[in-house]
Amino acid sequence: MSSRSTTSDSPLVVIGSLNIDYVSRVDELPAAGETVIADDITTCRGGKGANQAISASRQGQQVILFGSIGDDENGASYQKQLSAEGIDVSKIQEVPCSTGAAFITVDSDGENTIVVAGGANDFLTRDDILEGASVIEGASALLLQFEVPQPTIVEAISIANEHEVPVIINPSPANAAFPWHEVQTDYLIVNESEAEDLLEFEATFFSASEVRQRIHELRIKCLIVTRGSKTTLVFPNTGDPYEVDTLAVLAIDTVGAGDAFAGCFAAWIAAGSEPLDAIRAANCAGALTTLGGGAQRPIPDRERVEQHLEQIPVPKQT
Ligand code: RIB
Repeated sequence: MSSRSTTSDSPLVVIGSLNIDYVSRVDELPAAGETVIADDITTCRGGKGANQAISASRQGQQVILFGSIGDDENGASYQKQLSAEGIDVSKIQEVPCSTGAAFITVDSDGENTIVVAGGANDFLTRDDILEGASVIEGASALLLQFEVPQPTIVEAISIANEHEVPVIINPSPANAAFPWHEVQTDYLIVNESEAEDLLEFEATFFSASEVRQRIHELRIKCLIVTRGSKTTLVFPNTGDPYEVDTLAVLAIDTVGAGDAFAGCFAAWIAAGSEPLDAIRAANCAGALTTLGGGAQRPIPDRERVEQHLEQIPVPKQT
């Protein structure tokens, strides 16, 4: 088994959102109907699509991002920043409305709530994907989340399926109406609550055979459940499930940690790594991202991930 991935000549295609994040810090997240005073507010760039593209690019992977931004100052400066990260922005379109926005509240334990106003993200259409079909056909892998319209996502996956391009989905925010049966998913990355929504039973009652049956029904080849500071659970559709340790860190802000995981995992898979190695690297990327504020700035590069990789033991797979 290789413990290092190399990068792929074919690009990883990421399809997803670009947002401006308005982040306020509070002691405790407000309950329904409650008003709380924030310690401070910051504005930074985010959106699950862009965050994941940045994470993959920082692993040294060539990345093309399909997305939609507003014809406002935020949109223009966002494209420049992504280009500076080495991301191909030729498939990001400008539309006549405002760039997407996310209103994020982070508490003193680093936990968060997020409300997203889609804005320009809602205008990434199925036709935009069809126009860029050749890019998806030639990709080393396809990575998507659920902050752009469902028909757009389904079209992109169908093209990837037809050309045997590995498909990695991080279905966030959850969408109970997603037509899982219409597409083939190679890797599905969910957190615990998303796993419960998808599997329709509680996390504590996960049994290997039940999960295997359910993911088979949903046409998912491998289910990966991230659990914050706890081990990541991996359920392949054949073979036994296994757990992968993560780094022990003192999290100050968990925003973007899931995106750092997904982008890093996709980069390693795109480069031909074994899923176990990709998950060990992704666990490092996710944990290290919680050490800084904002979704994108703290995402680690490849060198930093590799410095920590040996701290994640290789689990026994039966
Ligand atoms: O996953 C974190 C991201 O979710 C934020 O950057 C925000 O924009 C929302 O998309």
